Amino acid sequence: MPKVVFNNPFFFNNVRKNIDKVLKTKIKETTGGKVFYKKSCTFLEKKLKAKKVVITNSCTAALEVAALLINVKSGDEIIMPSYTFVSTANAFVLRGGKPVFVDIRNDNLNINENLIEKSITKKTKAIIAVHYAGVPCEMDKIIKIGKKYNLFIIEDAAQAIFSKYKDKFCGTLGDIGCLSFHETKNITSCEGGAIILNKKKFFKKASIICNKGTDREYFNKSLRKYYSWRGLGSSYIPSEITCAILYSQLLNYKKIFNERKKIWYKYYLALKKINSKLIENKKLYSKDVSINYHMYFIICKDFRVRTKILNVLNKIGIISTFHYIPLHMSKIGSMYFKKKLNVTEELSKKIIRLPLWIGMNQNKVIEKLKKILNN
Ligand SMILES: Cc1ncc(COP(=O)(O)O)c(C=O)c1O
Repeated sequence: MPKVVFNNPFFFNNVRKNIDKVLKTKIKETTGGKVFYKKSCTFLEKKLKAKKVVITNSCTAALEVAALLINVKSGDEIIMPSYTFVSTANAFVLRGGKPVFVDIRNDNLNINENLIEKSITKKTKAIIAVHYAGVPCEMDKIIKIGKKYNLFIIEDAAQAIFSKYKDKFCGTLGDIGCLSFHETKNITSCEGGAIILNKKKFFKKASIICNKGTDREYFNKSLRKYYSWRGLGSSYIPSEITCAILYSQLLNYKKIFNERKKIWYKYYLALKKINSKLIENKKLYSKDVSINYHMYFIICKDFRVRTKILNVLNKIGIISTFHYIPLHMSKIGSMYFKKKLNVTEELSKKIIRLPLWIGMNQNKVIEKLKKILNN
């Protein structure tokens, strides 16, 4: 049994009450689209000041819905970082799209907005802005490019719930935003996600896509006599049990935020004090952004130092991990994209993510890091 696991979702007492409520209602109420589903959608719409939020089974599902919404067709090029999770690309490749990878910034590991324009061709359909570690991308520039070339802007805000760019929440800046409530995320329903629709023109189509290609939502609201097959779609709406867990988390979002912030700052100050040349410990955000304390990562001097630190930590049961095999270096990604991406390749060899969860024994991690870095 590890001494400090990498992640451990925290659940609040009211989660049991919510689940009980679902189980005690008539069985038909346990399918998605009912009480806790609606409450969660409304909560997020209000809190994020979003036009419309649809809760989905995952962020992967939300990205797939986004690809259907913007009508990705065979050969369409989708610009995105290679330094991201598989789903960012897979959702668009499923519809015949081709990922075009752009290198990341050295400071925050987000897509380098200054390199996007030279990757645009006649086939480009969308830009995906992934807010890595909950740190917002440079959205002003990205949105400006989107307008200039008439491209959709989709935010993969899987890690960025409640982070802000210039006082607007991540996920509400582009045309569409996608959130994750996976067990590793700040707000979790074990598996779960949401799609944020920032343009009215997407509302009806999104409902059909998420409800298995039917107008069932309109039928449920008594706006149709029956429902039928109306377009492409799949089963993207989660069960009420999932939404019951999600709603409990949403009601406690401030506590989650404050606890994570404390842990994040404790790492930051401890590592600043250690002041080792073996790692970089920098604050990764500018005055324009506020972050959600999703992740604490350090950048090691080189791959050898990274391997050594990871080995020592993991051997004594402090589970720390690196992040992404860049997509363009993966088996499937390399079939689509052949160029080198220097910053992505270098940083993916040097990053370590430290455990960050409510109730963790952080002193143990810090003491061990001190020992490793001072020797
Ligand atoms: C950037 C990014 N996009 C998409 C996903 C997929 O999210 P989910 O597990 O909710 O499908 C993740 C998950 O970690 C992610 O980090």
